[in-house]
Amino acid sequence: MILKKPPMGWNTWNTFGKNIDEKLILETADTMVEMGYKDAGYEYLIIDDCWSEMKRDENGRLVPDKKKFPHGMKYIADYIHSKGLKFGMYSDAGFYTCAGYPASFGHEIIDAQTFAEWEIDYLKYDYGFFPNSAKGDNAYLVMAQALRMTGRDIIFAACTAGVDNPGEWARSRGCHTYRSTDDIRDAKSSYVEILESQLDRMENNTFDCYNDMDMLTVGMNGIGNVSGKDRYRNASDAMKYEDYESQFLAWAFLGAPLIIGADIRKIDEKCKKLLLNRDIIAINQDAENRPPFRIEKYYERAHVFARLLENGDMAVLALNFHPETPTQKSLKLKIPFDDLGIRTGFGYGFEITNVLTGENLGIHEAGYGVAVKSERAVLLRLKIVKC
Ligand code: GLA
Repeated sequence: MILKKPPMGWNTWNTFGKNIDEKLILETADTMVEMGYKDAGYEYLIIDDCWSEMKRDENGRLVPDKKKFPHGMKYIADYIHSKGLKFGMYSDAGFYTCAGYPASFGHEIIDAQTFAEWEIDYLKYDYGFFPNSAKGDNAYLVMAQALRMTGRDIIFAACTAGVDNPGEWARSRGCHTYRSTDDIRDAKSSYVEILESQLDRMENNTFDCYNDMDMLTVGMNGIGNVSGKDRYRNASDAMKYEDYESQFLAWAFLGAPLIIGADIRKIDEKCKKLLLNRDIIAINQDAENRPPFRIEKYYERAHVFARLLENGDMAVLALNFHPETPTQKSLKLKIPFDDLGIRTGFGYGFEITNVLTGENLGIHEAGYGVAVKSERAVLLRLKIVKC
């Protein structure tokens, strides 16, 4: 199947880790619908690692943990589907999952059949305990084929956490997304590291196979399984609301999957509003789905990228990762319209809107300079107008 847009959804791992159960999943499904996440486009509800018993049954099948999921997985699937949402699950290409539960190496066919019988719509496929003697790209192809053999449309989300350069083979081996980096933590250094490592690796990010920069931490506020407290070198590494803004703007603009990791039953209003911002989401989900391209790089850590949208508008992301100094609190980054397909002297310019705030920044000819505060992102939408 063709995955026409980057997947959007919610996943258990960032906040809950192994502490998952039926109640959490059903309540989250309700929240996705009642709080407007589904309407905004978040459709996959994904159960990550730690959902199964430690042993397969006598027929070699994976068995849901009887305490966590007393009614089994088909029950969960039916509930999720009854809400108009889609159901995602997790396995691993190696002998065990990253958390040590049974995984799919050598069991691909039976596991794919089991998942299909449970009517899942998405499979995250990890890379823990993978044998050195086997080939990763081949193992992903084997599961891609096993899923196809079931006849059910299942999004296949590769997760090697950046190991073995999945960007070079995931598309050809049938994966719909591939995790390009190590696990995210809810810390500024973590999200910035991930983002900077992928900025120039987005050219192939379009239909069928998306660069997955890991789940969002927006709204976690330092709570949960990947709280990032281990990474806080000092308080300034903890995520502030403005860091969540920059994370969300960047993930959305670059066309990465938007998978929420916070507990949306308890998330604060500001972060909820951010995650539900339709204007930002519209750029991520643009129907033409064109990858971004670089316009400029300033002093190594400030960047301007553009993306051509279906209706001829351009989206522009300006990033400034330079830390604040007493004399430098922001940088003015240039956007020459020549680089956006409008030559000077043609008689056209752009009307510019700040996508996050909705502020109209006026009509400009030839170029625009955008001020970006230290360690922040600005996302603009530019509409062609006659001048
Ligand atoms: C790996 C993945 C994470 C998560 C855990 C589960 O670390 O990268 O996203 O799935 O495994 O154990």
